[in-house]
Amino acid sequence: MNDIFTYLASTKLVFGKDASKNVGEELSSRGHRKTMVVTDKGIIKAGILEHILESIAAKNIEYVVYDEVPPNPPSVTVVKGVEIFRKQNCDSLVAVGGGSVMDACKTIGMMTVNDGDINEYDIGGKTFEKRGPDVITIPTTSGTGSEVTQWAVITNEKTHWKSSIGSPLMAPTVALVDPMLTIGLPPSITAATGVDALTHAIEAYTTRDALNGAHPIADIYNLQAIRLISSNLREAYARGENYEARKNVMLGSTLAGIGFPQVGLGNTHALAHPLGGHYDIAHGVANAILLPYVMKFNLIACPGRFADIAVAMGENIEGLSPMEAAEKAVVAVQRLVKDTNIPSLKSFNIKDSDWSILAEDALKDMNSQTNPRKTTYKDLLDLFHQANNADESIENISNLTVTV
Ligand SMILES: [Fe+2]
Repeated sequence: MNDIFTYLASTKLVFGKDASKNVGEELSSRGHRKTMVVTDKGIIKAGILEHILESIAAKNIEYVVYDEVPPNPPSVTVVKGVEIFRKQNCDSLVAVGGGSVMDACKTIGMMTVNDGDINEYDIGGKTFEKRGPDVITIPTTSGTGSEVTQWAVITNEKTHWKSSIGSPLMAPTVALVDPMLTIGLPPSITAATGVDALTHAIEAYTTRDALNGAHPIADIYNLQAIRLISSNLREAYARGENYEARKNVMLGSTLAGIGFPQVGLGNTHALAHPLGGHYDIAHGVANAILLPYVMKFNLIACPGRFADIAVAMGENIEGLSPMEAAEKAVVAVQRLVKDTNIPSLKSFNIKDSDWSILAEDALKDMNSQTNPRKTTYKDLLDLFHQANNADESIENISNLTVTV
């Protein structure tokens, strides 16, 4: 048996209160003279950008702001960013925002030095040959973990397919992870992004490769991420200015960002991607809706791992059978999703004729390949239908696990 695993930490991580104020120093110490700040209009409106621009200007570094990144960023956003970067003769990039902004920024950097269309670099396609300019990521949500990953998701606007683009050359140079930037996040975004991060950790802890013992270090990161997020997300949601809760959720999100790329994800992400690509449903919301159903489907593949998750989420499994203990993890997630008022799938009015297209895309998504339980097209269609037909009352959601 080949039990070799590799762990390469290529991104410098600076975590803590006001870490984002180090941006000028990080650029200056690398000799940069003009940087492109990639963000969105919501970040500017929230007043988050000012101190970051001040830090850059204080080191006599010029900057240009590109603030046109939408959620589920399409490839045209990347093309426009590359044009501005070249026209303005920038030498580095700073991403200030959530996963969409960081993914767009990382791919803009790569496309300034590599040929072709960004969608050609979807997994299984072309591979990047050159490393782009330095990228500094400054996350403003606790969700994707993109600040420390070598991955980005970009939507092909012609096909609505979400391309999963990854390369060791795309890992950010520095991640400045500052929980203070999440203090003003609205509760709904706190919940959706937080459950996205939790989904990374839960899916990665139970992924096909994790079960094969592919990466013991990833298990440590993912389990700790589950503990931190599940025990702090409610408080961050209920009282946004609670710094300790914000800090712990953000640390959990970044730990999951380090852990999950080593072992992949599962069906929750495979199903969430087409919902984002075709219906523009926020990634975290789609994950939060689907996670309990996918967990229930996966329980029989690795009940011991789900029992670990139940314990990490604070559930008491004493005296329970392995399957009963595993079910506790599903119940714990359902409660968290309910407590943080995640909207129902029904509220997005998916057309009946679209379910088959969505399930086909989910089957093609790389994450369905690493799901712990082998999955067919029909399984994915059933999971969509279960989530869409869910009764919103907690009693009925809980019943879902009793019938396993
Ligand atoms: Fe995600």
